[in-house]
Amino acid sequence: MNMDTCAVNGFFSSAQIEKYSAAVQKRRSVRAFKGDPDVGQMSALHYAAARVALPGVRIALGEANVDDLYRRLPLVEHIHGSRRYAAVIADERVPHAAVHAGISGEAFILEAVALGLGTCWVAAFKRGGMNIPLEEGEKVKAVIALGVPDKESGSRKRKRLSEICASNPADWPFWAYNAAEYVRVAPSAVNLQPWRLSFAGNTLTLSSARAGANLDMGIAMLHMTLGARDQRCVMRWGEGKEIAALIAEDKP
Ligand SMILES: Cc1cc2nc3c(=O)[nH]c(=O)nc-3n(C[C@H](O)[C@H](O)[C@H](O)COP(=O)(O)O)c2cc1C
Repeated sequence: MNMDTCAVNGFFSSAQIEKYSAAVQKRRSVRAFKGDPDVGQMSALHYAAARVALPGVRIALGEANVDDLYRRLPLVEHIHGSRRYAAVIADERVPHAAVHAGISGEAFILEAVALGLGTCWVAAFKRGGMNIPLEEGEKVKAVIALGVPDKESGSRKRKRLSEICASNPADWPFWAYNAAEYVRVAPSAVNLQPWRLSFAGNTLTLSSARAGANLDMGIAMLHMTLGARDQRCVMRWGEGKEIAALIAEDKP
């Protein structure tokens, strides 16, 4: 395993971690909005966008016509009712920027949920519908729809823990079990839930069942961190299918 420490260590304050942990339980994708965020919510979102950006990530707020921005997908409701969105942008020259984009984008979503807003990660967007200029090396990884929720998009369908864990998580220490449970409820593209978790010694390892799922992996890394919040841990990068490992440290 590559033993590089991840920039997420110590990046979020304990107050943010508490806020995000509560927001995880409330978050569902919202595709039907009844209006844009208000002025106070927009100013809090601007602050959050800057605060949650890990190295190589920029979160930019924009306004667009929904039909110009979102592609119509079979089986899911078309996003409508709010013009506001956030673009999650990565500078691909910065190491780990694509996975950082998942971590920072999900932190931004949980900030928005804590403000009472609805959100939806959107990979099926049209670049031409956006009015955000990019710097050299930057790429829009996804956009996040933002608005006052009208209704949620149905119940949360998820794999069982036994389908994403290599051994029985009931035998793991509570922090690792809880981290797995937080990963289980995370959002993922097309709800594919491509994460796998294994535990040995003092280490919870996140692996990817699908190549190129960088945003999904970053989202899972943030959820792991939130689930393990009561244990002092350090996150290290992995190699190949092993994306990252959360390692418990002894209490000081
Ligand atoms: C990286 C990523 C991309 C996504 N892209 C889209 C999209 O283009 N359109 C859409 O309607 N939902 C999209 N979603 C939302 C997922 O379909 C949704 O998170 C998943 O079905 C789980 O539902 P939940 O978010 O309500 O828990 C995306 C989610 C992620 C994490």
